[in-house]
Amino acid sequence: MEKLVVEINLFFLLFTYLFVQSEGQIIAQFTRLSLNYSLENITSLSGIRTVSYCAAECTRKRDSCLVISYDSEQRTCNLSNQMAVYSKTHPVSQKTVIFTRVLPPSCPEGWTMMDVKKACVLNKGKEKVSWNFAKHECEQIGAHLPYFDSNEAFDWFRNFRNNSTDTHYKNVWLGAKFETKEFQWGNGNAYGLHNSSDWWCKERGEPDGGGICIGSFPIGNQFLLRDQHCNNYLAGFLCEKDMDHMT
Ligand SMILES: *[C@@H]1O[C@H](CO)[C@@H](O)[C@H](O)[C@H]1NC(C)=O
Ligand SMILES: *[C@@H]1O[C@H](CO)[C@@H](O)[C@H](O)[C@H]1NC(C)=O
Ligand SMILES: *[C@@H]1O[C@H](CO)[C@@H](O)[C@H](O)[C@H]1NC(C)=O
Ligand SMILES: *[C@@H]1O[C@H](CO)[C@@H](O)[C@H](O)[C@H]1NC(C)=O
Ligand SMILES: *[C@@H]1O[C@H](CO)[C@@H](O)[C@H](O)[C@H]1NC(C)=O
Ligand SMILES: *[C@@H]1O[C@H](CO)[C@@H](O)[C@H](O)[C@H]1NC(C)=O
Repeated sequence: MEKLVVEINLFFLLFTYLFVQSEGQIIAQFTRLSLNYSLENITSLSGIRTVSYCAAECTRKRDSCLVISYDSEQRTCNLSNQMAVYSKTHPVSQKTVIFTRVLPPSCPEGWTMMDVKKACVLNKGKEKVSWNFAKHECEQIGAHLPYFDSNEAFDWFRNFRNNSTDTHYKNVWLGAKFETKEFQWGNGNAYGLHNSSDWWCKERGEPDGGGICIGSFPIGNQFLLRDQHCNNYLAGFLCEKDMDHMT
C-alpha cells in the first residue's frame, strides 16, 4: 500500500490538488469543484478517512472512479464514476467537497500516442493509396498526414516505423508537398525539407524531382524522405491528430 504523507495544494487558485508519495512522486491529481453535487453509483469508504486516502483509492480504481465526495466534518467519502447535480433535492453537507480526477492524456483505441508532440497517430499502412487519397482519408476523420517540426518528432516516427512488426507497407506518405517554391509540411513549415543537404534527405540527392509529394521510405537501415508522384505512386499512410482535438 502506497504511503501518503503529504497533501500539497500547489495551485490553490486553480483548485488543483496533487497527492504525492513520500518520495515526491505524484500519484493522483484532482480538481476541486465549487459546486453542490451529490454522486450517483457510489462506493462509500467506511471509517474515518483522510482526503488523501480517498484520492489514492479513487486513483487505484482507475476508470471506475472519476469523482470523490469528501465530508470534511464526518471525514467520510464516497467514490463514483459519475456525477449528478442534486443540489436542490439532495443537498450535500456544506462541509462536503467534490474532487474530479485529472486524467492523464491518452489516445483512443487503435491510435498510438506521439508523446513528443502531444498527438495521436493512426497507422493506415494496410491500404496502399495515392498521396491525394491519403490526405483526403485523414481529413475525413479530422486528422492530417504527419508533420514533423523537430528532430525528436522525426526520431519518434522512425522508431515507430522500425518497431512495427506487422505486414504493413513500409513506404508511407507524409504531410509534405512542393508548394509554389519549396517543399513544405501541411502546416506551412519547411523544417528539414529545405534542400537536399538537409539531414532527412542527406546524401541521397532527394528531393530529386520524382514528384512533388513526400513519403518516408526505408532504404538500407534508414528511413529517408523521397518525393513521388501525388496520384500515380501508391504507399501506406498514417494520420496524425492533436491530442487536444481527439474527443
Ligand atoms: C451550494 O449550497 C450552499 C448551501 O446550500 C449555497 O449557499 C451555495 O450557494 C450553493 N452553491 C452553488 C454553486 O450552488
Ligand atoms: C457503476 O460503476 C460500475 C463500475 O465502474 C459500472 O460498471 C456500472 O456500469 C456503473 N453503473 C451505472 C448505473 O452507471
Ligand atoms: C455518501 O453517500 C451517502 C448516500 O447517498 C450520503 O448519505 C452521504 O452524505 C454521502 N457522503 C458524502 C461525503 O458525499
Ligand atoms: C520502439 O521500441 C523501443 C524498444 O522496444 C521502445 O523503447 C520505443 O518506445 C519504441 N518507439 C516507438 C515510437 O514505438
Ligand atoms: C540548404 O540548406 C542549408 C541548411 O538549411 C543552407 O545552409 C543552405 O544555404 C541551403 N542551400 C540552398 C541552395 O538553399
Ligand atoms: C531498426 O531497428 C534495428 C534493430 O532493432 C536497428 O539495427 C536499425 O538501425 C533500426 N533502423 C532505424 C532506421 O532506426
